[in-house]
Amino acid sequence: MNQIDFPDILKDYGQHHILDHYSRLAPDKQKELYDHTAGLDLDLVFKLHRDRARAGDASSLSVEIKPSLIVPIPRTPEGMGRHTAARSAGESLISADRVAALIVAGGQGVRLGHDKPKGTFPVSPVKNKTLFQLFAEQVRALRARFSSRMPLLIMTSRENHDDTIAFFASHNYFGIDKNDVFFFSQGMLPTITPRGELLLKDDAHLLANPDGHGGSLKALATSGLLTHMIDLGITELFYCQVDNPLVKIADPVFLGYHASAKAECSTKVVRRESIDEKVGVYVSLNGKDTILEYSDFGGRHMRALDEQGEILYWAGNTAIHVLNLAFVKRLNDHGFALPYHCASKTIDKPGPDGTTRPIDVWKFETFVFDAIPLAERTCCMEVDRREEFSPVKNKTGPDSPATARRAMVELHRQWLEEAGISVPSKTKVEISPLFALDKEELAEKLKEKTLSLLEDVYIEEIS
Ligand code: UTP
Repeated sequence: MNQIDFPDILKDYGQHHILDHYSRLAPDKQKELYDHTAGLDLDLVFKLHRDRARAGDASSLSVEIKPSLIVPIPRTPEGMGRHTAARSAGESLISADRVAALIVAGGQGVRLGHDKPKGTFPVSPVKNKTLFQLFAEQVRALRARFSSRMPLLIMTSRENHDDTIAFFASHNYFGIDKNDVFFFSQGMLPTITPRGELLLKDDAHLLANPDGHGGSLKALATSGLLTHMIDLGITELFYCQVDNPLVKIADPVFLGYHASAKAECSTKVVRRESIDEKVGVYVSLNGKDTILEYSDFGGRHMRALDEQGEILYWAGNTAIHVLNLAFVKRLNDHGFALPYHCASKTIDKPGPDGTTRPIDVWKFETFVFDAIPLAERTCCMEVDRREEFSPVKNKTGPDSPATARRAMVELHRQWLEEAGISVPSKTKVEISPLFALDKEELAEKLKEKTLSLLEDVYIEEIS
């Protein structure tokens, strides 16, 4: 599309209200609106709108759902042996510079209500380190431990891209060589009404939304970073989301299981806390491993119990994956392969007089876990929620900064206690990733130093 064709395109799509607005704008504003819209895929959004408007009732399709095969948390000597072997396979991948870490941080973080990029939210219990700092320090520690060049990739959105880069720059990339930290922005799609109308956000911009965390796999390709990573010899991409401070970046055990299964897409899961927990569930659907959103899973399956009275479909999604890069490339080879989902929302839309009015909209986005059933081989591993999963979603209540801080204190207290150090109950503890990435490393280091000499184990009394 060029600026001359722009009015015709708006007309073709029946967007006369935008055209009227455009024709009333001064030339510089017209150019601004055109430039902004040129970066949005109008053809895609109108196609998605047509398909959605015609969609039938998917729930009537016949599907066979079963629990998937999942690598359990080891509880026997054989299980421990398999874990140890996986760890060393994963460590070899890191040492051979075949692993990159990706953090997707393009979301709008509406529920948390933090007006800056979510990764800049201070979350650690004693030192108040931000989410980004905790992740970057893990990458720095892994690079040092395995003499690896592990790149750190951060996916932003158009809205938070500049602020995210400025934040890393102002913190000197948290000690990682800045040439190994890559930022790329996910795509945006116009938000549309159920009647197929585009909306104006302001004079020179259409209302648009980020295209979902699955957009990371598309933007990797469109940004050129995918090719760059492949050229560097990277074969596996560790993927996680910006909101989970407990995540073990590039966990060697996970990488090892992924590699020994020759998996194209691997996933970590935790036991669902209750039949009511609103979490995506990892299942086998018509013989293919898949994650179903709780809203698509249906009450009967969500509540199903096994013969022991335990939750039958127990595997809750943590949004932690490893993806093979040749697979990510394949997902992009003939157009982007992930399906788009439509979220119906009611938003407050500002009107020309400054007041807002509620309006129903459709937002289209892709979900990264829809890559799982497209993979030829998958691997899924159970982990302990208390050790690896405590997302920060809400301002208060469940999945909030308070629950995440509590989980971090409990975890680090447990690491210290397993290393033979008892921690008074009225204290908060925090162990820097730069000191120990896991309890094994902590125990090893404690053989050399007494606690009072540790610079990166922070202990603070709760006042
Ligand atoms: P959520 O779906 O929890 O969204 O994203 P959010 O933006 O963090 O929070 P709310 O729903 O607005 O309150 C889960 C993860 O996926 C990333 C987010 O940054 C977060 O890490 N994400 C989500 C993206 O990177 N892009 C998107 O378009 C959506």
